[in-house]
Amino acid sequence: MSDEFRVVQVSDTHVSHRHPHFLANWRRFAAAMAADPPRLVVNTGDASLAGARHPEDLVAAAGLHAALPCAWRIVPGNHDAGDHPALCDGSGRRLEVTRARLAACRAALGPDRFLEDIGGWRLLGINGMLLGSDLPEEEEQFDWLEAARAGAGGRLLALFLHKPPFLSDPAEPGPVYWSVDPRARARLMGLLDDPRLRLVGCGHLHEHFARRHGAAEMRCCPSPAFVASPTLQPELAGGTRETGWLEHVFHPDGVATRMVTGGDLAPTLLDDVVDEVYPERRR
Ligand SMILES: [Fe+2]
Ligand SMILES: [Fe+2]
Repeated sequence: MSDEFRVVQVSDTHVSHRHPHFLANWRRFAAAMAADPPRLVVNTGDASLAGARHPEDLVAAAGLHAALPCAWRIVPGNHDAGDHPALCDGSGRRLEVTRARLAACRAALGPDRFLEDIGGWRLLGINGMLLGSDLPEEEEQFDWLEAARAGAGGRLLALFLHKPPFLSDPAEPGPVYWSVDPRARARLMGLLDDPRLRLVGCGHLHEHFARRHGAAEMRCCPSPAFVASPTLQPELAGGTRETGWLEHVFHPDGVATRMVTGGDLAPTLLDDVVDEVYPERRR
């Protein structure tokens, strides 16, 4: 038996049956999985178009993932569970993560974190939307994560979450929309600096970029659904704006990652449909 295994990371699929704009690209992604099923699909959040506001979008995401021909896990994004409280001003443009939204997310998508031991690896997925929330569930997740790290023994580690822990510098300020709250980031640094950690897989930016931090490579997974123009989304991390997903091949000494453009994925531009799919932006 080969000691390599393949994990496909997809992110920001933003599916909905209310606004089916991004379903064609989902179907192309699902067809690629059916043609060559990986060991595991990890969706690093924003699986739904707007599940925090419309729970039926969470149900849509769960149903589409359930039809994949392999195991899958979803860790929530801000569009699924709500966002950092300091980034939500009550205008309704962004929704705050709450216990009710967490419960809806978990009910539809399943557990919001995971631990998978495969070969010599421990793959960890966390609910990044808890980070900086000050909800009791944040503390409980940190305890779980620390125990998972402490119990990993000689296994190599990979971590999946929605927002990048940072864009270019672990000391950069916040909270900002694009990355993890610095208070929570500080508590993640023990794991981020762990020499066994070889991969951090995140999403949220709808860009692909790679950064090195210690022994780990931080990879921001593109979205198969859409990209945004620099008018809508300022230049952040110097990544490439192209629809696609990531394939991680884990082997005993490390992980090799490549971006998959999917070939026939439509290069959908959010700007063209944003007022339709996110009408709250106009408020
Ligand atoms: Fe997204
Ligand atoms: Fe996001």
